Amino acid sequence: MRVTVIVPTFNEEPNVEALVQRVEKVCGAMVESGEVEILFVDDSTDTTPQTIERVAAESTIGVRMIHRENGEGGLSGAVVAGFQASDAEWCLVMDGDLQHPPEMIPVLLETGDESHADVVVASRYVGGGNADGLSGWVRHAVSKSSIVLARSMFPVRLRDCTDPMTGFFAVRRASIDMDALKPRGFKILLELLTRNKLKVVEEPFVFGERFAGESKANLAQGLNYLHQLASLRFGRMSRFAIIGAFGAVLNLAIMAGLMHLGESYVLAAIVSAVATITINFLLQERFVFHDLRAGRSVWHRFAESFGFNATEAAIRLPFLIWIVEATPVPPIVAQAVTIAVAFVLRFVFHSRVVYRAGRTRPVSPLLAEGAARLDHEVSPQGEPRVQ
Ligand code: GDD
Ligand code: MN
Repeated sequence: MRVTVIVPTFNEEPNVEALVQRVEKVCGAMVESGEVEILFVDDSTDTTPQTIERVAAESTIGVRMIHRENGEGGLSGAVVAGFQASDAEWCLVMDGDLQHPPEMIPVLLETGDESHADVVVASRYVGGGNADGLSGWVRHAVSKSSIVLARSMFPVRLRDCTDPMTGFFAVRRASIDMDALKPRGFKILLELLTRNKLKVVEEPFVFGERFAGESKANLAQGLNYLHQLASLRFGRMSRFAIIGAFGAVLNLAIMAGLMHLGESYVLAAIVSAVATITINFLLQERFVFHDLRAGRSVWHRFAESFGFNATEAAIRLPFLIWIVEATPVPPIVAQAVTIAVAFVLRFVFHSRVVYRAGRTRPVSPLLAEGAARLDHEVSPQGEPRVQ
């Protein structure tokens, strides 16, 4: 098989038939020689699968379908499931709503073969490309700024890619490390490019209007994207630090707000500390330790987290005074040191105590595993940091 055309679908019933017909037509010779197949990876909750089966029976081109009940990993998870089910040289990914013109399929494959690329990206933002199919200026702005953000975070891996958010690309199956992928949300190409070292070439294309049905992109996908960027670029510890820094700013803002309303600075400090500790906890649950929550109740974890932070906040000031009084260290340096020490302690306490794995294991392997995990967390993921 030369190419598996992978089409993720979520309730795309009215588009299936037109899509298959256009792919079949444009791949004429390859259809005859059996070098191309379409693989729908379907998470639909409507009758899209039945329609796919009917269209498959009526068409000359080989059509397969994987229907998933759990929809794991969303759109990206579907694409990876497609990679795993293909044995073709190329996997070509395209949307099921005809915003990606099937007429580009032969172009992408030819370019890939001629240039010996690992990935051929159909880009909306390279000469001749066009993103007019994005509905409204908000989506345009979001699309553009998310690309700028991603490319500034991965200047090396995304050097040759003007459109790392596109859902239209061909990849040489042998050049990707499936096990390294952590599919989530909409941005599978970003995941591929940042976790693998790949030779990228681009072809311009015009992102059309949806043929029928509605877009599944939403605000949650946008947040998902930021989360994905942060986890690709930084390990767990850096996400912890980002949230901690956000909490510090929030703390000051709440305190200033309460004082502005006429509260005393002591009360304002207490309220803002409690609010910040709580909000930080919730953000860390969601963005830092989401995969380690199993086993114990959220109240348990909250009590431990709160207890640690409150104790730490209470101890820090006397500790600072002690350093300044008892040693020649200047106050600002002493404060910087206490903040840094508190940060490391807080991270270690959270990852080792609050989000510890089950308690039943013997102590020494647990410690060994903890050390290995910390080691892994603090080493950079994705693109090498030194450039
Ligand atoms: N299997 C599966 N599971 N498919 C899904 C899921 C899911 O959870 N969510 C969406 N899809 C399918 C849709 O059915 C469609 O075929 C394709 O993925 C793209 O979804 P759309 O809802 O049409 O997204 P879009 O047009 O807003 O976004 C497209 O453009 C973006 C760039 O602006 C996609 O190509 C994105 O990948 C791309 O980033
Ligand atoms: Mn679409």
